[in-house]
Amino acid sequence: MRGSSALGSLRVRLPALFLLGIVLAGIVAALISIRFFQSYTRERAIDELRSEGAGIVRLYSTSAGHLEVPRARLEAAIGGDRIFFVPVVAGAQLFVGKLPQLPRSAVDLQALGRSGGPLTMSLERDGHHYLAVARPITLGPQLFGALVVAKPEKQLRSRLVDLIQQLAIAFGGGVVVVGLLGVYLTRRLTRPLGTLAVAADEVAAGDYAVELPPARGSDEISTLSRRFSDMAAKLAESEQLSRNFLMSVSHELRTPLTAIRGHVSALREGVIDDPTMRSASLAVIEEEAMRLERLVGDVLDLAKLDAHRFTVLQEEVDMEQLCERAFSAFAEQARRRTIDYRRELAPHPVILSDGDRVLQIISNLLANAFRWTPEGGRVWLELAAVDGTVSVSVSDTGPGIRAEERERIFRPFWSRDGSGTGLGLAIARELAVALGGRIELRSEPGLGSRFELLLPATAPADAEVVPV
Ligand SMILES: Nc1ncnc2c1ncn2[C@@H]1O[C@H](COP(=O)(O)OP(=O)(O)O)[C@@H](O)[C@H]1O
Ligand SMILES: [Mg+2]
Repeated sequence: MRGSSALGSLRVRLPALFLLGIVLAGIVAALISIRFFQSYTRERAIDELRSEGAGIVRLYSTSAGHLEVPRARLEAAIGGDRIFFVPVVAGAQLFVGKLPQLPRSAVDLQALGRSGGPLTMSLERDGHHYLAVARPITLGPQLFGALVVAKPEKQLRSRLVDLIQQLAIAFGGGVVVVGLLGVYLTRRLTRPLGTLAVAADEVAAGDYAVELPPARGSDEISTLSRRFSDMAAKLAESEQLSRNFLMSVSHELRTPLTAIRGHVSALREGVIDDPTMRSASLAVIEEEAMRLERLVGDVLDLAKLDAHRFTVLQEEVDMEQLCERAFSAFAEQARRRTIDYRRELAPHPVILSDGDRVLQIISNLLANAFRWTPEGGRVWLELAAVDGTVSVSVSDTGPGIRAEERERIFRPFWSRDGSGTGLGLAIARELAVALGGRIELRSEPGLGSRFELLLPATAPADAEVVPV
């Protein structure tokens, strides 16, 4: 991946973390099992020594008086240098001659006499260490001596060494397996991230047609991958839209300019002599120039709205007065075209908004209604205030708008006939949004349409507000 050193990359860090985790866990587990094993083997050894001692003492007491028998059996049974006799009564001999003796100081005879049971102790003899169990040997009530059964500590330790060796083998195997698994999993994780990074570079360079391998999983990286594809598609769409916008603007600007240039050159070359024709030509030039001016103004408005560089005033607006103004602007046209033109206005709802912009929206909606309503049709304007929202609706008996066109007509430059710019509704909608409101459309194809502007009674908090 660009910009990350090999050591800092996830590809190295993740397996390293895996390994560190397993090593730590292994060390802790090994320490616990070694301690457990140590105390377990020690306890078992003590148990063994105890029962061994008990057996020998029993053997002795059942054969008391026949000293030769136990000696022979003992020698056969054990042998080796790990069973001792500690004489208490001077000169007393048990298992004559064969059992090595320990001095009296080797065993805590007092404690042994007190407890009467086996006594666990450690023993050192000829430089070797032993774990040992002493048992009292009594003749009637008298403590006659002690029998000590011992086991070299070295023997206990050698089992521990075995265990540690086995643990080390298991541990090494575990580390290798975890390491491989870590590398594999990390590869699986980082590969799509690498692909995403490359795709991001391509998008940054302006190539939106990136192709990512399809992400089917529900994990975070697959989700990211899908979101990224969506984002690239949206960017491509938005770039396409702005390219279309630019082309539409140039086209719209060129049409009136071509008309103006044609008339101007005709006038200059004196092709048109007739004064009425000349003034008609001049009228066309004036009209087209005005259209150009309007178009440039609209495009600027739209660009500003799009970039949120639009200042919205916040002033008290009497909506009834405002609607009255908008209404009367079309009264003459309604009379001329015998359109049944009515209004129904709620008395004086006052809102905090930008009056000029609200008037621009309503006039736009009324202009559309008049453009599309045939002679003898009906246009009406309603104003209502409900729950902190003001609603202005413009209804007509025009051709209506088909369901599939209802979203499209709000796009810039989308116009059903060539005479319009297709910017009116786009601007109206952007303005409504900038004022914290929206435009809703209901339409019955063949019967008419109803555009409703909904505005909050107070301006939106995030609008760029210029106090007046
Ligand atoms: N009241 C209406 N009745 C029927 N169609 C309408 C109405 N208002 C708008 N339209 C449709 O929406 C399109 C876009 O409108 P608009 O953005 O104002 O652009 P223009 O008026 O310049 O065509 C119109 O060309 C028309 O097809
Ligand atoms: Mg219009």
